[in-house]
Amino acid sequence: MINHLITLEEFIIRSQNRFDGATGELSQLLRDIGLAAKIVSREVNKAGITNLLGRHGSENVHGESVKELDVFADEQIKSALARSGIVSMMISEESNELIRLESSSGKYIVFFDPLDGSSNIDVNVSVGTIFSIYSRKSPREEPARESDALQRGDSQSAAGYVLYGSSTMLVYTTGMGVSSFTLDPSIGEFMLSDDDIRIPDFNPLYSINEGNASGWPVGVKEYISYIKQVDPETMRPYSLRYIGSMVSDLHRTLLLGGIFLYPPNVSNPQGKLRLMYECNPMGYIIEQAGGLAIDGKGSVLETVPQSIHQTAPVYMGSRKNVEKLQEFLRRYG
Ligand code: AHG
Ligand code: MN
Ligand code: MN
Repeated sequence: MINHLITLEEFIIRSQNRFDGATGELSQLLRDIGLAAKIVSREVNKAGITNLLGRHGSENVHGESVKELDVFADEQIKSALARSGIVSMMISEESNELIRLESSSGKYIVFFDPLDGSSNIDVNVSVGTIFSIYSRKSPREEPARESDALQRGDSQSAAGYVLYGSSTMLVYTTGMGVSSFTLDPSIGEFMLSDDDIRIPDFNPLYSINEGNASGWPVGVKEYISYIKQVDPETMRPYSLRYIGSMVSDLHRTLLLGGIFLYPPNVSNPQGKLRLMYECNPMGYIIEQAGGLAIDGKGSVLETVPQSIHQTAPVYMGSRKNVEKLQEFLRRYG
């Protein structure tokens, strides 16, 4: 039970003190990301009254048009990570190649999606930022290698997201549960909201882009038709909630329970969402909160990555919801 206000900075330092061998580097990095998040939050909140809205004119590595705020968020996070001096490489959704930093002996590698759900900016619907942090495996005297970046999701040192919603929230894990913070704009601080988020075991809620149904695997089609049948005993039919911002859809899922699905479809036969800066960090948070994150074959976090921008199918949320889906995926191969 929290009986007094705790800032993000204070919380990070307290958590660090619980580790004997902690060097303080990860704490510093989390604080740097927190600062970048505040700056992005300020811009997101005033996007409607400045010229930041609209297309920036360029395309990102996936051929999507880039909005001004994507570029702004990307620059802010890059400069926060470069400034920290403890990051040797960073990988952004907005940059084709991985970016090596001058601090090449830095301990950490950071993946990030600077602005997630960017198609929602123009309509004043919540967007987010996602980050995923790995500790390098190669000796620090040497420049970090691509293999330091291509680690499985279950080796993440920390992962988190920022939700720019009706209020701005930062949610993160370092593998000891999930904590959330709410930005109090009047004092410019993230204040602790919950130091141990637990996802409900079950909720009859699902979140998927149903427009893509024709291209889904049979197991997903059958599962979705099952959850729409009427059976009050199993709380069917489930309710559908889909925002189209992964951070927002999963934030709701984390707090209320339910299942979020992004299966393969005709236009994205390998799934649409990116393994390293969407599926892994969000999956790590969901699992740390007691939920499950799978790709249809196994755990998302056990996938051995082949490339920094690869995509993966993803199904995550409440344990019982995901287990029910798993039954269908097994049955229909
Ligand atoms: P981004 O804005 O970083 O490209 O991500 C958009 C993603 C994700 O946020 C969301 O869950 C998904 O795209 C929505 O895709 P559909 O429009 O295909 O449903
Ligand atoms: Mn995204
Ligand atoms: Mn993005």
